[in-house]
Amino acid sequence: MRSEESKLPPHVLIFPLPAQGHMNSMLNLAQLLCLSDFHVTFVVSEFNHSRLLKHTGTHSALKKYPGFRFQTIPDGLPEDHPRAGERAMEIVWSVLKFTGPCFKKMMVEQELFSSAGRRPVTCIIADGILSFAADFAEERGIPLIYFRTISACAFWAYFCTDRLVEANHIPYIENGMDELVECIPGMEGLLRCRDLPGFCRVDDPNDRNLWNIFNLTSQSVRAKALILNTFEDLEQPILSNILKHVPRLYTIGPGNAHVQSRLREDKADSSTTSASLWPEDRSCIDWLNTQNPKSVIYISFGSITTVSREQLLEFWHGLVNSQQRFLWVMRPDSVMGEDGDRIPVELERATKENGYMVEWAPQEEVLNHPAVGGFFTHSGWNSTLESIVAGVPMICWPYFADQMINSRFTSEVWKIGLDIKDICDRVVIENAVRELMEVRKDEFLEKANNLARLAKLASSEGGSSYNNLNGLVEYIESFII
Ligand code: UDX
Repeated sequence: MRSEESKLPPHVLIFPLPAQGHMNSMLNLAQLLCLSDFHVTFVVSEFNHSRLLKHTGTHSALKKYPGFRFQTIPDGLPEDHPRAGERAMEIVWSVLKFTGPCFKKMMVEQELFSSAGRRPVTCIIADGILSFAADFAEERGIPLIYFRTISACAFWAYFCTDRLVEANHIPYIENGMDELVECIPGMEGLLRCRDLPGFCRVDDPNDRNLWNIFNLTSQSVRAKALILNTFEDLEQPILSNILKHVPRLYTIGPGNAHVQSRLREDKADSSTTSASLWPEDRSCIDWLNTQNPKSVIYISFGSITTVSREQLLEFWHGLVNSQQRFLWVMRPDSVMGEDGDRIPVELERATKENGYMVEWAPQEEVLNHPAVGGFFTHSGWNSTLESIVAGVPMICWPYFADQMINSRFTSEVWKIGLDIKDICDRVVIENAVRELMEVRKDEFLEKANNLARLAKLASSEGGSSYNNLNGLVEYIESFII
């Protein structure tokens, strides 16, 4: 090795699945590594990269990290693919089939993305569902670390799929959705079949999707280490079970709070770097500024959820009937089916009086706004953690995948919200909003504030996630010594 090269820092390639939730949490990791003076190449799909260029100041915000750069790659889907709702999983299958071979070719042709002043990649941190990253790393002898963007509880439930089938919980249509699941160590007596990951909702125990997800999870052990966006005080009993199966485990979350704490320490510009794929409508912050403290419930179902028109109207009636003020994110692609009838006039009138709607919001800023007192969420893991950090209690209406189990933990383990999964009824929604925002407000806020405090402690100097990140940085440095 030339002597100038030996002085260069590690070069980490970070490769998330090209979807909003995956990009957000892995971009937080990228920033944490840049703050340790690493070089980072962040792989993003061409489709998402052009959206980032159009809509947000992501590129200019990232200029504060001189070691950061994007690398684009095709995702194999046509431009007009919905990339949401029932077809969201097609992103995963396309990336595995199409992007994987492209990635290997690019890595070889571009000599592991080396360039002037930058070593060839010294470590790959890939989204845990990108199995081709492990094939490539093994072939080329490059250290690989996996990052899973889901909670530890969801990861562990996926990992235990074979036990669930053995215990006849899958298919569970036969046995009933409310049957208790006792075969997942660390979660005995907690989960009903309906709380298992959405992929378990199949009629056939040999379902291909179910086993594909299981295989993508169990192959995590091929990597040298696993990173999870969570913190020890939140999921300790589950983490000790996972630790028995993976060689090394680093919990470094909540990623957003951790980036903030390191930026403050660095006395750097601590504004968050958003990677929003939709333009953020900041007018909602002006609207929130005119509202009373903790009076507004924020509604957002993330980047993938879609609802039918019938469900939309149930949500809308429930919210309006609760007479609470609300800020609602309605993505342009989130309502399925024909436009059909007009929205009833009374709903539109009540929304003008009591609510505000945007197509996409600066979510973290919204959750941290003093006017926000509750979050009606689909229990995506980023949204759940962002709400925990902001100390905002939740109503959970999970849509699919890991969200089913996140919502159960939110209501029954952390006790910072209500889980109304599988129900979309205006009366239930009205009552849940009242319960969260009025009847049990103080009880939920007290628990949420306590958890927010623990989340911030974990990611501040001396905290568990802070120390784990230091350990991870040293581990990655050891690959080049
Ligand atoms: C999905 C899964 O649901 C999630 O559990 C998994 O870990 C990653 O992929 P998604 O459904 O989009 O992601 O939900 P979530 O994980 O909550 O991520 C959404 C992200 O978009 C959050 O970081 C949120 O802050 C951001 N967002 C959402 C906005 O910035 N503005 C909005 O208006 C809505």
